[in-house]
Amino acid sequence: MKFFIDTANLQEIQEAHDLGVLDGVTTNPSLMAKEGIFGHDNVMAHYKKICEIVDGDISAEVIATDYETIIKEGEFLAELHPNIVVKVPMIRDGVKAIRYFSEKGIKTNCTLVFSAGQAILAAKAGATYVSPFVGRLDDVSTDGMQLIDQIVQIYSNYGYQTQVLAASVRHVMHLVQCAEIGADVVTCPLNVITSLLNHPLTDIGLSKFLADHAKGNK
Ligand code: E4P
Repeated sequence: MKFFIDTANLQEIQEAHDLGVLDGVTTNPSLMAKEGIFGHDNVMAHYKKICEIVDGDISAEVIATDYETIIKEGEFLAELHPNIVVKVPMIRDGVKAIRYFSEKGIKTNCTLVFSAGQAILAAKAGATYVSPFVGRLDDVSTDGMQLIDQIVQIYSNYGYQTQVLAASVRHVMHLVQCAEIGADVVTCPLNVITSLLNHPLTDIGLSKFLADHAKGNK
């Protein structure tokens, strides 16, 4: 399972990269705004900086919602760096654009997916990744993980090449369940990745090993 970090914060991206387990990055307009990155030129320059840190797929989201402008924005983004994946919302013109990008060999991430039907449509259109939002479904009392399970099953039934990128992953159990189900990718904040390190028995065991080692060196 690939690990993507879901942030536009360069320090966090660098930290996850330095851990040696990072495969890519996802961003969205809200994450860009959170870092105070506004304006076309600043946003594009920021994507380039991310691409300099991580040699993996970097999702950059279009802002347009009409076909012609989605194509224009997506082609511009794809020209920025070979690792850019054009992130397109699950809307009518978005699906049409994903088909266009797919035929042009431009990688896509179909975002804001909340149902199995939407995921089937994304795969039929030729999306490279589909992003079902686990946490946001949980937020409205719907089992987000069940959707991941459904999509993985459906894609396997038909051999769809679209990769299931579990998004809106909020905690370690989400990540572990995605791995059990067989999601291709999870994207999550840095704290979810670093939380994987933690177990109290590891801390207790290490303290004892070091204390016992110190006894022999007195
Ligand atoms: C996906 O690519 C989105 O950027 C993200 O995972 C949304 O997560 P959130 O629901 O925690 O905002």
